[in-house]
Amino acid sequence: MTKDKAVVTIPDVVAHRGYSGQYPENTMISYEKAIENNASALEGDIRMTKDGEIIMMHDMTLNRTTTGTGNIGQVNWHGYIDGLVTKTDPPQPIPRFKDVVQLMLRRDVIDKNMYMIVDIKFDNPIAILNAVHDLLKAEFADHMKTLARQLVIGIWHVDFLKTTQDLFPDFKICFIGLSLDAARKYFFDAADLLSMPFAALADKEGHEFIQEAHARGKRVATWTVNDVEQMHECLAMGVDAVVGDHVQVMVKHLRETLEGLSVDEYADYITKSTYLSHRRTRVYFYLLKKAMHYASRGYIGM
Ligand SMILES: *[C@@H]1O[C@H](CO)[C@@H](O)[C@H](O)[C@H]1NC(C)=O
Ligand SMILES: *[C@@H]1O[C@H](CO)[C@@H](O)[C@H](O)[C@H]1NC(C)=O
Repeated sequence: MTKDKAVVTIPDVVAHRGYSGQYPENTMISYEKAIENNASALEGDIRMTKDGEIIMMHDMTLNRTTTGTGNIGQVNWHGYIDGLVTKTDPPQPIPRFKDVVQLMLRRDVIDKNMYMIVDIKFDNPIAILNAVHDLLKAEFADHMKTLARQLVIGIWHVDFLKTTQDLFPDFKICFIGLSLDAARKYFFDAADLLSMPFAALADKEGHEFIQEAHARGKRVATWTVNDVEQMHECLAMGVDAVVGDHVQVMVKHLRETLEGLSVDEYADYITKSTYLSHRRTRVYFYLLKKAMHYASRGYIGM
C-alpha cells in the first residue's frame, strides 16, 4: 500500500539579522553562515552614517552591539565605525550595505535564488532610500535586474511608501509592522510581502488576515520565531516565510522533517504541541497583540 504524500507548504527560512542565534547579528559572518546553512533568505537592517555610508545595524546607536558608542547618524564611517568590532564573539567588523550586496551577487547565492529583506526602520530618515538607490546605481548598475529579484525593500511606515515606489519600481516591497489594520489599510495593494509578528497572526483574526493576503496574491512572513512549537504553529497557519535567529533549527523543523511525510503524519506533526493549544498562551498573545496595536498608532498614523 502506498501512503499519500502530504501536499506541504514549506515556508521560506529567513535568517533574522543573519544567523544571529550563533554569530554576531548583522555581520558578514552571520550572513555567510546563514547561506552556508541553507537559509532561503536573509534579513538585515540598515542605517546611514554622518558621512553618508550605509551600514548594517539594527539599533539607532552603536552602544549595544559594537565597541563604539553614539548615534549612527552623528558619527562617521571613515575613521570611526570602520575601526569598530562587535561586542559579541567572535569580534567582527561592521559591514556596509555594499558588502552585503556583493555577497548577494555571489554565484552560489544567485543560483540558490536567495533574497534579502532589507529592513529600513521607521526612525531612519526617509533620505536613506535615496542613498540606497544612489549606491546601487553608482556601484551595481550592471546588476540591477538581479538585485531587483533579490532585494526586498522592507518599510514600516506609510510615509516611506511613495519614495520607495518611485525609486524602486522593479523591486518588491515588504511591509513590516505590528498592526494588521495598518497592513490592510496602507499596504495590502502596495506590498508584495507582509511581515508581521507571530503574536499578531496567531489568533483567529490573524488567520483570517493570512487568508485575505493569500487571496490577493500576497505573501505573509512572521517574526521572530525561535522555538519549535511556534514553528509548528507557523506551518499550521500556512505562512510563506518564517523569520528567526536559529537557521539550523528552522531548516530542520520547517523544511527537512516535512519532506516525505504522509498526510496523517503531516497533520500530526503540525498540530503536535503547537503553542496555542494552551489557553494561557493564547491569552498572553492576545494581550501582546493589543499592546502592539496601540503602540503602533503613534508612528503609523492611525
Ligand atoms: C545544504 O543543502 C545542501 C543541498 O541540499 C546539502 O548538501 C548540505 O549538506 C546542506 N548544508 C547544511 C549545513 O545543512
Ligand atoms: C550610548 O553611549 C553614550 C556614551 O556612553 C551615551 O552618552 C548614550 O546615552 C548612550 N545611548 C544609549 C541610547 O544608550
